[in-house]
Amino acid sequence: MFKSISIGSASGAIRVLPVFKDLVLPSAWRSISGVAEAIKAPGFKGDLGEVSPAGSKAILLGLGDAAKSKPSVLRRFGSRLAAVLERMGAGAASLEIPTTGLASRDPKEFGRAVAEGMLLGPWRIEGYDGKATERTAPSGSLRITSPDRLVLEGLADGLLVAESVNYARFLQSTPPNVAHPQWMASQARALARRLRLKARVIDFAEARRLGMGGLVNVGMGSTQKPCLIILEHVPRGAAKAPHLAFVGKTLTYDTGGYSLKVNNGMKGMKFDKSGGCAVLGAIRAIAESRLPVRVTAVLPAAENMVAGDSFRPDDVISFMNGVTCEVTNTDAEGRLVLADALCFTCERIKPDAIVDLATLTGGVVVALGSHCAGYFCEDAELTRRIEGAADRSGEKVWRLPLWEEHRGLMRSRIADIVNSGAKRGAHPIQGAAFLSFFVKPGMPWAHVDIAGVSDDEGHELFGSGATGYGVRLLLELARSYADRAVTSRARGRSPQRPRRG
Ligand code: BES
Ligand code: ZN
Ligand code: ZN
Repeated sequence: MFKSISIGSASGAIRVLPVFKDLVLPSAWRSISGVAEAIKAPGFKGDLGEVSPAGSKAILLGLGDAAKSKPSVLRRFGSRLAAVLERMGAGAASLEIPTTGLASRDPKEFGRAVAEGMLLGPWRIEGYDGKATERTAPSGSLRITSPDRLVLEGLADGLLVAESVNYARFLQSTPPNVAHPQWMASQARALARRLRLKARVIDFAEARRLGMGGLVNVGMGSTQKPCLIILEHVPRGAAKAPHLAFVGKTLTYDTGGYSLKVNNGMKGMKFDKSGGCAVLGAIRAIAESRLPVRVTAVLPAAENMVAGDSFRPDDVISFMNGVTCEVTNTDAEGRLVLADALCFTCERIKPDAIVDLATLTGGVVVALGSHCAGYFCEDAELTRRIEGAADRSGEKVWRLPLWEEHRGLMRSRIADIVNSGAKRGAHPIQGAAFLSFFVKPGMPWAHVDIAGVSDDEGHELFGSGATGYGVRLLLELARSYADRAVTSRARGRSPQRPRRG
């Protein structure tokens, strides 16, 4: 794995010539030394990832079937490219553009997908190999460029995005004996310092004073006390910029509490902080690209543990907005911490729209598997933007219903609501219905249940472990508002422009 990949050219750069299965080469490549031989090399068929060296200065790299050329395939191509260049000991490479497939239709998208693959495919968490492992640490740096201006723009964007995805994956993968709520807060503070974001952390005592009974009760049984982490990206001209709030479930570990997880259901629950990690990754990419959108990240961080002072089933707790809840299951804890985070966001942040990301239910994994997240949104414009962002980012979503009837499932006999309904059905919807009690009426809001997509086993690009799902989705969503900010500002300005002559 390269230690770093950045944009830039250098003498001696390897020319990378992507070739489809039809083995048709752009005529300009035929004059490159060694290409005529490389294309005829025995066994080279142009299959995805297949490599054929053309002399010592160029390689042909298979792109597979032109008709199947799409970003997910190009990311795998990029992943393979990084591995090949590393084996060659290359320090620089130049990506040429094939004449058919997605590259010719959308060169920027081509560059972006290849760059994403180059960083996302080889990534793995560092720092936990001990003396008994012999693995070479990441080393060397690669500079990548392209003779095509749009491909180059795409490469630069792909690297920026993928670095933030890998940052989220690093946070997600960090083990729970390291990554406790305070660790998340210190990571967020460090990010804020580097990117000049505003940062605020509401500690346990203040959360208590603010009446955040959800966050306080869920996190109380851990020696590592809970906190609410708030970061804000304030662009220039913020007063007119659209304002989005991203809320991320940040359970640094979920044992289930007294409703303890059984049959090894606890394994992998370090990934229960994935919502918050994706939100941090997204705000990082948004700030780095100086998007003209105001974005506030809100992370309720807690560890759900068993102890003498843990909350228990049958407790009644109350939240920041005065709603009360009968705890029927301490394992339905994500919605409890999110409840206070949503209240805080509506009451104090007052954004134009809220999107929460949460590994909320096993039920969404049963319903939808690992190829898409399930989401809930009753606002037409936000729904349209989320669908668009999912299309552009490749992070797929599928909308599920949230009706008044579902809110009825959550009524309690002793308090306002229960945190897990008496009926077994519709678990992902129950989660969303519960959360809806904490969002002010009229506030555009979407809840994205990422339990099935935040980590994977044997993913075609990510392999096993954290995927950083949500970073690209939220970034694309924010970009859709940035377009609105730019167009509405331009529209607003034109009548005031002094007339000439
Ligand atoms: N963190 C889990 C959800 C989860 C399950 C994420 C599997 C990833 C993989 C959540 O806190 C939880 O335990 N949910 C319960 C809710 C139930 C008790 C209402 C669930 O889904 O079983
Ligand atoms: Zn749980
Ligand atoms: Zn959980």
